Amino acid sequence: MKYTVVLTAAYPPVAREILAGEFDVIEHPTEHERSEDDVITLLSEADAAMTLLSDPLTRRVLGSNPDLRVIANFAVGYNNIDVAAARELGITITHTPGVLTEATADLTMALILAVARRLIEGDAEVRSSGRCIWEPLHMLGVSLQGRRLGIIGMGRIGAAVAARAKAFGMEVAGVRRGEPIDALLSSCDIISIHAPLDRTTHHLIDRAALAKMRRGAFLINTARGPIVEEAALCDALESGHLGGAGLDVYEFEPAVNPRLRAMRNVVLAPHIGSATYETRSAIARIAATDILRFLRGDAPLHPVT
Ligand code: DGY
Repeated sequence: MKYTVVLTAAYPPVAREILAGEFDVIEHPTEHERSEDDVITLLSEADAAMTLLSDPLTRRVLGSNPDLRVIANFAVGYNNIDVAAARELGITITHTPGVLTEATADLTMALILAVARRLIEGDAEVRSSGRCIWEPLHMLGVSLQGRRLGIIGMGRIGAAVAARAKAFGMEVAGVRRGEPIDALLSSCDIISIHAPLDRTTHHLIDRAALAKMRRGAFLINTARGPIVEEAALCDALESGHLGGAGLDVYEFEPAVNPRLRAMRNVVLAPHIGSATYETRSAIARIAATDILRFLRGDAPLHPVT
């Protein structure tokens, strides 16, 4: 019997190349804000699927097709999936750890630099004025040398950010999953989040946590939006308590809070932590290979369940 693999988006071509030789591959265009019913329809013929981190894989969706045996999430994070339900239903879930570490750490540094040196503001000024003005007191930012960076989530990505920050002369401190964060919040000039989103990290950076941060500190988030209470972040930025923020992820993605958009000291990226040609192809290769292995009867290399 020839298995059917559903690709819920236009993934890098290597995914299809790996799978099309042995299976029927159905490829759907990339779409955002899919409902559960949309995903149920997409997966109705699937024995296996490669899914987007925005595809809601709830118990209802997972239970809708008894033939569905394996899902490879095209991401390292899998907060879009009801993992407990998948376990109960006997559906294997895989993800793509490791390959996006360096790309995400690079983007974190890009956001830190952009906020600290007001790069986006400067770019906007040059474009709109058509002039480059040098003045002793113009567009001053802060130096990274000697600043203290606090990393929430000292896993693979957190450690890669720490290595980069040290090369910039920063002092680095970090906490691992589940460790207290208060001392870190109150002692650092920049806080960068690298934790997965789950029940324990939802709104980990809430109003109270933001109040503990140093006046003028920067918050960087390349992990998951709902780890930060976005309305409280807007208040902390608008009041001047925080000096700026660099965000790649948002609490209500794909929507971005208009208050954030209005602030010049906030740099907004469109969830591009892993968005390099090399990294996205590597993610596709890993996800497709795990589907291939599973359907051939071999254990996948990156299982979540
Ligand atoms: C992931 O893999 O979880 C990232 O957010 C995608 O860039």
